[in-house]
Amino acid sequence: MTFEDDLQDSVRTIPDYPKPGVMFRDITTLLGDARAFRRAVDQLVHPWAGSKIDKVAGIEARGFILGGAVAHQVSAGFVPIRKKGKLPHQTVRMAYALEYGTDEMEMHVDAIARGERVILVDDLIATGGTAEGAVKLLRQIGADVVAACFIIDLPDLGGAAKLRAMDVPVRTLMAFE
Ligand code: PRP
Ligand code: HPA
Repeated sequence: MTFEDDLQDSVRTIPDYPKPGVMFRDITTLLGDARAFRRAVDQLVHPWAGSKIDKVAGIEARGFILGGAVAHQVSAGFVPIRKKGKLPHQTVRMAYALEYGTDEMEMHVDAIARGERVILVDDLIATGGTAEGAVKLLRQIGADVVAACFIIDLPDLGGAAKLRAMDVPVRTLMAFE
């Protein structure tokens, strides 16, 4: 069994959630498996071992769980990117595309200094609308987005390609059709 099969086996698939026809890739089973969780975090940041990373930015909500662990692993600070209205201090805001319509995400204006090297983390990239918004937000405040890391890629939805077209190196650990 390859490494990828092994880790992929720890992701649970729920058919018809949250609506009929969707195969929902549930990472809570991976997170609950100590060996799989450690492997996923180690593998996500492997290409940047030894490079200086100032901040890890995690996207609400599942990107917080992974991002905290990744930040610890690379000895960086952690910065939450949240849905609007959740952060207490002054924020910068960016609209992003959802499946239907748009929403806005925010981060604290002073969370990242101009020129700091940042890795963006989330559990999964699908259409890429969320991650695209996060990259734009990070770049708006002058961050150097070194990479975007996701456990799961849904390549048919084009998100990873969209980020690469924005000159963001993308790292994913497994793909589902
Ligand atoms: C999911 C997932 C990513 C995003 C990916 O989050 O955790 O953040 O969707 O989709 P995209 O690439 O098409 O933008 P969701 O919006 O369900 O929010 P949640 O984590 O708060 O449940
Ligand atoms: N799992 C988790 N989040 C998601 C998915 C999924 O399959 N598709 C879009 N966002």
